[in-house]
Amino acid sequence: MKVTWKLADGSEIHADVAPGTTLKDAGLDNGVPHILGECGGSMSCGTCHVVVAPDWVAAAGAPGEFEDAILDTTEAPRQPASRLSCQLEMRDALDGIVLFVPEP
Ligand code: FES
Repeated sequence: MKVTWKLADGSEIHADVAPGTTLKDAGLDNGVPHILGECGGSMSCGTCHVVVAPDWVAAAGAPGEFEDAILDTTEAPRQPASRLSCQLEMRDALDGIVLFVPEP
């Protein structure tokens, strides 16, 4: 399943990601800058912050209450479509998803 990360400099990283893989792990596996995942996916660091592209917001869904709170602590300012990529697991509905990687 396909994922595209768009970087602030206009470049893109594309990857094939297996179902069930978090998009934080996929970002780390593919060397996506600024995806650090320092807490290992336990929703406490905010270093896996991404912004979901407009066409994918509905499929990605809204953050849960705790994720929502952590999104207020991310280094790059939060945006309306911000998510923690450790909370996005690859599944059929997200095949092709495009994520913006904000500059801290
Ligand atoms: S990896 Fe720490 S909040 Fe996602």
